[in-house]
Amino acid sequence: MDATVRTGSLSGVEAHDVRVEVSPVRGLPLPGFDLVGLPEASVRESRVRVTAALRNSGFELPEQRFAVNLAPADVRKAGSSFDLAIAVALLHTAGLCAPNRLHDTLVLGELSLGGHLRPVRGVLAQLRSARDRGLARAIIPAADAAWGSLLPDMRVHCAERLFDVVAFLNGEAKLPLADALEVPAPPTRDALDLSDVRGQYTAKRALEVAAAGRHGLLMVGPPGAGKTMLARRLPDLMPAPSPEEQLEIATIASSSGWVNAGVALRGRPFRAPHHSASEAALIGGGTPLRPGEVTLAHHGVLFLDELPEFRRNALESLRPVMESGEVRIVRARERACLPAAPLIVAAMNPCPCGFAGERKRVCRCTPDQVDRYRSRVSGPILDRFDLHVRLPPVDVATLEDGPGGDGSAAVRARVEAARELARQRHAREQVGRATATPTLELLSRRLSQPALRLLHRSMDSLGLSLRAYGALLRVSHTLADLAGVDAVDTPQVAEAVQYRLLDRDGRNRSPAHASC
Ligand SMILES: Nc1ncnc2c1ncn2[C@@H]1O[C@H](COP(=O)(O)OP(=O)(O)OP(=O)(O)O)[C@@H](O)[C@H]1O
Ligand SMILES: [Mg+2]
Repeated sequence: MDATVRTGSLSGVEAHDVRVEVSPVRGLPLPGFDLVGLPEASVRESRVRVTAALRNSGFELPEQRFAVNLAPADVRKAGSSFDLAIAVALLHTAGLCAPNRLHDTLVLGELSLGGHLRPVRGVLAQLRSARDRGLARAIIPAADAAWGSLLPDMRVHCAERLFDVVAFLNGEAKLPLADALEVPAPPTRDALDLSDVRGQYTAKRALEVAAAGRHGLLMVGPPGAGKTMLARRLPDLMPAPSPEEQLEIATIASSSGWVNAGVALRGRPFRAPHHSASEAALIGGGTPLRPGEVTLAHHGVLFLDELPEFRRNALESLRPVMESGEVRIVRARERACLPAAPLIVAAMNPCPCGFAGERKRVCRCTPDQVDRYRSRVSGPILDRFDLHVRLPPVDVATLEDGPGGDGSAAVRARVEAARELARQRHAREQVGRATATPTLELLSRRLSQPALRLLHRSMDSLGLSLRAYGALLRVSHTLADLAGVDAVDTPQVAEAVQYRLLDRDGRNRSPAHASC
């Protein structure tokens, strides 16, 4: 009897329908099976795993040849998640398994040679896609139960062994549901409070503005001023993710294969890739396609520490992503769109020794060294950060003042209130509009006449780009939301301009230049 089993393939963070079709091949006495449907090496190897797993689970296929097709046959299949579906389809065709409903059951899992099920990458993306295609039931490896428990509207069964899956499909045994299994509580993150950071009030204010309006932030300062410390406290200044955001964060984490469910479920992600990261590691790539750091940080924070040390091509590849909030990967045989809208925070020193522009320390770099260091970050990248702040060194007197300023909870409450105001205004303004991004004209409507004049004068004197003009408008809006006022007035524009003063230098618009 021919059999079809429903499974899926993963591309980036999206899953696609794959059907495993098995049919006996008459006239070929050689036992075993042939695999077709553009399988990559990892899928072709499933012949070895499936054959051994069947035998070691006590199933003997008849002395016959089978054809196994992974449909649609013109899409490349990679990964090890097809093993279980292939084994079930073979057993069904051979008459060794009599499933009562395969038409609406997603079957996923890698098999060990001994017949045990191993976890697979992208379980959550696969389950969500299957649910959207109308499949009501799934069988996944027990090790992936934590991901399965996130979809309460789908019956997700978990299994340890191929033998148990067959018994379940035959109606001889039960398999536990993922949400009935004990899922370990997410590990708590170290409590990092903003009040641990002494002084640096301008930078703290900039963090609050960044969290409220999702503005990119660049911090420039000498070594040991607290840049890294501040950036690590940013996720806790943002509101807790909504259930949809949390599901999206978990789906991305599950598709990466590098983050476990516990970590993915403990709130907004914070990703701080090392500066040696390649372009593919940063924006995504490889075969099979995996999400990069900018996608793993979606709805959270991407921290680019020591910005000038990053590879030039890796940084430049972030340019379109910073504007569109997504990564579009186009290949001859594959197209994928990965969500990528984290809050991007970067930190750098003003020069290689770190003390250019400091009053109490002498900068030992030659002008040439300083120029080379700064030119590693291009002007267009710097232009994409809405907020630029210069951090001074913290002196001992500040330490003696005791804990500085508001704690993270107080700042988060203000951020939540500001975001709510922005959400309500956005909903009002969007009525009858086709695009979600507000135009410059729409943004400037909320400004008073004196505020608009100040903005235009500042643009002129600082020689800013039109992108910076949009950034100034958006930051002014956020500042008004934080202040709880309806109109954007001169204090908001004046503060927004403060965050672009480091742009003043004409040479390469590096924020570090202004202070030397
Ligand atoms: N403002 C501050 N308040 C309290 N502690 C601070 C502050 N700045 C720095 N420190 C202390 O110094 C350590 C180093 O700070 P941090 O790593 O944030 O510096 P940085 O500005 O990132 O330096 P670098 O440019 O070398 O990366 C922190 O772990 C903390 O102990
Ligand atoms: Mg640092």
